[in-house]
Amino acid sequence: MDAAQEDRILAWNRAVPRYTSYPTVPVWRSEPFLWNEPLDHLGPRASVYVHIPFCKEQCAFCGCTMVVAGRQSAGDRYLDSLEKQIRALGGTREVERIHLGGGTPTWLSSEQITRLFSMLDERFTRAPGAEVSVEIDPDVTTDEQLQVLASHGVNRLSIGVQSIDPDVLGAIRRPQDPARIAAILVRARELGMSSINLDLVIGLPKQTLDNLAQTLAWAAELRPERLAIYAYAHVPWLKRHQRQIDEATLPSARDRLRMSVWGREYLQVEGYQAVGMDHYALPEDPLALAARERTLHRNFMGYTTRADLDILGLGMSAISEMQGLYVQQPSHLFEWYQAVEGKRPPFERGWRLSLEDQIRKLAISELMCNFELQVETLVSAFGEPAREIFQRALEALLPYAEADLVTMSPSEIWVTEQGKWVLRPIVSVFDAYLNAQAGAFSKAV
Ligand SMILES: C[S@@+](CC[C@H](N)C(=O)[O-])C[C@H]1O[C@@H](n2cnc3c(N)ncnc32)[C@H](O)[C@@H]1O
Ligand code: SF4
Repeated sequence: MDAAQEDRILAWNRAVPRYTSYPTVPVWRSEPFLWNEPLDHLGPRASVYVHIPFCKEQCAFCGCTMVVAGRQSAGDRYLDSLEKQIRALGGTREVERIHLGGGTPTWLSSEQITRLFSMLDERFTRAPGAEVSVEIDPDVTTDEQLQVLASHGVNRLSIGVQSIDPDVLGAIRRPQDPARIAAILVRARELGMSSINLDLVIGLPKQTLDNLAQTLAWAAELRPERLAIYAYAHVPWLKRHQRQIDEATLPSARDRLRMSVWGREYLQVEGYQAVGMDHYALPEDPLALAARERTLHRNFMGYTTRADLDILGLGMSAISEMQGLYVQQPSHLFEWYQAVEGKRPPFERGWRLSLEDQIRKLAISELMCNFELQVETLVSAFGEPAREIFQRALEALLPYAEADLVTMSPSEIWVTEQGKWVLRPIVSVFDAYLNAQAGAFSKAV
């Protein structure tokens, strides 16, 4: 990519705000269901997400909803409330996926992890081939915990790495030993976990092309089935602890772009296939296959090969997605405890998608996952109203077509290779709320 192309890509991306908030309403007032009935509101295919918010310390770059906790008794109290929440659900339900996220699920002791799985097993049976995945911080995860996870059927592990460069790790206050991560990966495989993902981040303080190259070379040698390379979200006005980061040490937008482009080329040379915006997978991995067959999907838990999977979110801040209804539990620990005790509403916010929202959501998901969109995909799912939304998007995308960022026919939109670096502005033409809120639509075009 030459400097002029970089300039154009940076200019297009500047035109659309990166971080926005979306309208939400207190749905528990308008929705005719109670917290103790959500199992009935899950669609035919379902999954469970459990949020474990605790970490031993807070990394300076962290954008997750987490709580620093020193005492293991904090975990007992949390599990007591989770148990109450799970028991209140009533009935049992088959699920295709169970995911423990955080925070750091392996902040819990081995005994606490076992207690959590026993609670889940009472309510949720696993469909054949169900995915059971856990996010871990390698710095706190022990061999005993890995054994316990494997004994409860965990078959996917997602390991937070971010970078292995000492300067970068110092700047984000994340002590970590690459040899320990490699040992965890090897051990997880020995224990039968068939899919390992490493999380990396681009745009961290003190990150350079050179130290990113070292991190990627190290990661590629370990041959994880999947790699996620997130763009660092620096939002100190939302995450106050990010103010510890000296902004003068953050790479520029141009450097971030160069690192991302270089990283994608490097990983492809190393035999990885790009999946969606920010993931990479070995070619035989189901995610890579779905990307090739244009059947990739995305939900709150990330990219998935499984469409139409509703999510029941459990725990502090967890989001549920049930047949077009989104609800989020309170994201402060004390408020969540109160909600479980019935002393405040069970959900902090929520949104029921209108037909138009659903059409727009599918359009954005198709473009972000598969880089193409057929009008018939929308019409066969939602009927004729989808045709008009598609038509309006074609008009809005004309400037992008002139810049060779998309190619279009009356019934299809394809994102070009260059356009993949301008994906957010491209899909924003389908985003009614962003356009209404920020006037970004007119800025982008
Ligand atoms: C919820 S964390 C869980 C992993 C675990 N706690 C750890 O840090 O190893 C999941 C991933 O989110 C990503 N992440 C966290 N904060 C981020 C930020 N501000 N911008 C982009 N990605 C971020 C990191 O790659 C992290 O591994
Ligand atoms: S990045 Fe992971 S370990 Fe660090 S504070 Fe955030 S959730 Fe905790």
